[in-house]
Amino acid sequence: MGRLDGKVAVVTGAGRGIGRATALRFAQEGAAVVVNDVDEDPAVETVQAIREAGGRAALSLENTVDLDAARALVSRAVQEFGSLDILVNNAGITRDRTFHNLDDEQWDFVLDANLRTAFHATLAAVTVMRESAKRETAERGTPRYHRKVTFTASSTAIVGNPGQANYTAAKGALMSLTRTLARELGPFHINVNAVAPGFIETRLTAPKGEGDALGMPDHLRQMALALIALGYPGRPEDVANAHLFLASSESDYLTGVVLPVTGGQLGA
Ligand SMILES: NC(=O)c1ccc[n+]([C@@H]2O[C@H](COP(=O)([O-])OP(=O)(O)OC[C@H]3O[C@@H](n4cnc5c(N)ncnc54)[C@H](O)[C@@H]3O)[C@@H](O)[C@H]2O)c1
Repeated sequence: MGRLDGKVAVVTGAGRGIGRATALRFAQEGAAVVVNDVDEDPAVETVQAIREAGGRAALSLENTVDLDAARALVSRAVQEFGSLDILVNNAGITRDRTFHNLDDEQWDFVLDANLRTAFHATLAAVTVMRESAKRETAERGTPRYHRKVTFTASSTAIVGNPGQANYTAAKGALMSLTRTLARELGPFHINVNAVAPGFIETRLTAPKGEGDALGMPDHLRQMALALIALGYPGRPEDVANAHLFLASSESDYLTGVVLPVTGGQLGA
């Protein structure tokens, strides 16, 4: 028996890294997964990987920066699989600059990709989840099970990180949103939590070459590594396992929590 048998999940940013690992893990545990990413090739690859492993998946290329696109994403889940039980807000990106070099374009791009996508996807998802919970409560006095929304913050928003004012502003906002939505949606048995990953090996933390938009300079990678109690960077699967716990019934009495997945990063 899978830990997510019969559940329907949407994972944003599921073409690569943590989102891809989460989508695969959820499908392995019995969930039908809508794989959402703005990049088609990696998203298609994730869907194929899930199907080849015997799981159920659907593709979504919507960019939930736009609210109508978020509604289309949620409709896809309901049309393809009949409901929506789990939303993992994982889409995110960096555009690192020292604060005095930041302009509106880099600020808006990073706030949009990390925060507005999550705002809109959650707004669209919660509309469906609340209705289901209300209907079930009218029928039987309580929702049939807990539905789950998870945000992706970052340890950098807890400890601060030079060069990431835009990114940490977005991730800090997501932590606050987690706590407020947990209070608003608790009566509907919709749990709202967040993960705060530390240094996880993906393209966001890969060694940054000359002119690369993403990645980390080598000296910062070494510094990040030195702060980790376990002594090595995390893998996308480590965060996927935390997402699985937060999406499963094992975490039903846990809401409004920001869970650091950092290998014991100092200060986070
Ligand atoms: N890697 C780390 O160390 C680390 C640490 C803390 C937090 N995070 C967060 O974890 C999440 C996943 O990061 P990752 O390291 O796997 O990155 P990644 O770049 O490997 O994967 C992110 C995916 O999100 C997609 N994406 C970007 N904007 C999108 C949008 N508007 N809509 C849908 N998809 C979009 C990208 O195309 C990409 O496939 C992000 O929110 C990131 O900020 C990562």
